[in-house]
Amino acid sequence: MKNKSLISINDYSKEEQLEVLKVAEEFEKNPVQNILSNNVIASLFFEPSTRTRLSFESAISRLGGKIVGFSEASNTSVKKGESLRDSILTVANYSDLIVMRNPLEGSARFASEISPVPVINAGDGSNQHPTQTLLDLYSIKKTQNKLDNLNVAFVGDLKYGRTVHSLVIALCNYNTTFHLVSPVELKLPSSVKMNIKEKNLKYYQYTELDDNVIPNVDVLYMTRIQKERFSDPLEYERIKNYYILKNDMLENSKENLRIMHPLPRVNEIDINVDKSPKAYYFQQALNGVYVRQALLSLILGLK
Ligand code: CP
Repeated sequence: MKNKSLISINDYSKEEQLEVLKVAEEFEKNPVQNILSNNVIASLFFEPSTRTRLSFESAISRLGGKIVGFSEASNTSVKKGESLRDSILTVANYSDLIVMRNPLEGSARFASEISPVPVINAGDGSNQHPTQTLLDLYSIKKTQNKLDNLNVAFVGDLKYGRTVHSLVIALCNYNTTFHLVSPVELKLPSSVKMNIKEKNLKYYQYTELDDNVIPNVDVLYMTRIQKERFSDPLEYERIKNYYILKNDMLENSKENLRIMHPLPRVNEIDINVDKSPKAYYFQQALNGVYVRQALLSLILGLK
């Protein structure tokens, strides 16, 4: 993985993904290690973020590395009309690795093709979010003690949810049975579903989140409706409260069920669910630190 950019989850083989999870386990046991003290990481966030940006920064800090970057492009020379190309070529002079989130699909791939230093895609529009996928795999493995042969439900905005796209693709390596729950307008794109079909895996599609789904699954992966991707605000208003998970809906769920969510949550999980032992989304966000420590160390050749 040394010097290897991560733009789409498939850029890393199954074995490489599992290597990241293995190293992340080491960091969970021993999170403070001064191995990045000679490295500078650029953190370029052209789109808002809490977890991804701050968990990368936490990961870098715990490893003794330095961070340069920005959390909004309006404070940079992009505001004066600088192109992404020129920004990347400049920032690559100042850093050993670039972490970038950008609202444009394909922008991270473009950056990786012109950058002399490796690039990690921290989310490009509705396309992919591969580091979220690695922490999701880590969270599933940790809570289910395996990755193979699980029933996983994806609920909400399967059309625009980049975390869903990357995780569906990754789970196709593990004989997953998929339960795809969305409004008709927000179904999983056929380009992503193709991965399930190519592996002849089972998948079921639903519009309702109810006892046809919940009692049958090991992981319930909730997502928010992505307001910022809608061209018509009225369409968002119509759909925004389509799914709200409440405690009573979990009555017939399996003992091992874990509720995951990449966050941020809007109102698709009632806050009373947070007290359920099956709620795992805040621990999931913590796992992001260990996984990002692992990824940075492997790409920089320090593990
Ligand atoms: N999961 C995730 O990408 O969250 P942020 O948008 O807060 O980074």
